[in-house]
Amino acid sequence: MSTDPAPNPHATADEVAAALHDRKLANVLYHDWEAGSYDEKWSISYDERCITYAADRFRFAAGEGGWPYEHALELGCGTGFFLLNLMQAGVAKRGSVTDLSPGMVQTALRNAEGLGLDVDGRVADAETIPYPDATFDLVVGHAVLHHIPDVELALREVLRVLKPGGRFVFAGEPTTVGDFYARRLGALTWKAATTITRLPVLADWRRPQEELDESSRAAALEAVVDIHTFDPAELEETARRAGAGDARVVTEEFTAAMLGWPVRTFEAAVPPGKLGMGWAMFAYRSWQRLSWLDQNVLSRVVPRGWFYNALVTGTRSR
Ligand SMILES: C[S@@+](CC[C@H](N)C(=O)[O-])C[C@H]1O[C@@H](n2cnc3c(N)ncnc32)[C@H](O)[C@@H]1O
Repeated sequence: MSTDPAPNPHATADEVAAALHDRKLANVLYHDWEAGSYDEKWSISYDERCITYAADRFRFAAGEGGWPYEHALELGCGTGFFLLNLMQAGVAKRGSVTDLSPGMVQTALRNAEGLGLDVDGRVADAETIPYPDATFDLVVGHAVLHHIPDVELALREVLRVLKPGGRFVFAGEPTTVGDFYARRLGALTWKAATTITRLPVLADWRRPQEELDESSRAAALEAVVDIHTFDPAELEETARRAGAGDARVVTEEFTAAMLGWPVRTFEAAVPPGKLGMGWAMFAYRSWQRLSWLDQNVLSRVVPRGWFYNALVTGTRSR
């Protein structure tokens, strides 16, 4: 029987205040809070669009050798976006989802069950992974390393639970330069959207003040949960120091991130569901076109540290 703690999706003001000084507690409260609405907020789905997105990220970092991996672990699974879509793409047969937030593990397991995937899960801190040595053939994560206080310790844990020859792939990590422009573009978009929707004629597009206030409280926690940004060469070096063989960092999204961050911020600033699936597809197609430009043209001239997303992979040597 699971001994996982219960989710706490309605943190009190006192709990939030305490979490401002405790990064791990902040992660639990912030992500328990978000678990129920996370898929909608980030336009996450478990259909062709996100299956292709997840599989393409994996291929870009690590190629297709080794598919299907027998048993994969995900750290910081959130609602299961990365591993569940990778499993649907045929990257792994069986999965274990873990996250520091009980609410996220619960949602990921519910999503996996809905998709008929062979997945179990538990609450786990990436710095002390609660599985025996040499358990998994693959360890993955998406947008999680930047939340972990000691990234090298977590990577050492990853290598410990990997079988010899096993691989890890972490995608969706912000580079230092990318984070600089993405945050500024996001802040400008938020200001513009919440100001312009105060016009009476746009009342339908305005989110209720209490939701905007809640977003501001969430933003205070967000500033605490986002710990790192990465320089690609330093992240490669961290993976090597942790003991990874064949450690490699690749980056992607330059103009695509300059579109993506304002789009995602705009989606969060207007009432949920207002923009619909047509908008989601339009945003995704535009992002795809710019990604193509970034990958096929700009990557030849723009330094890798200027791209927004870093992906790191490596193996446990035999
Ligand atoms: C930005 S979310 C990403 C979720 C999901 N991977 C995705 O891409 O949609 C980061 C996740 O990492 C989790 N997390 C933060 N610190 C963690 C830690 N030390 N160990 C495990 N998970 C952690 C959070 O609770 C959260 O669910």
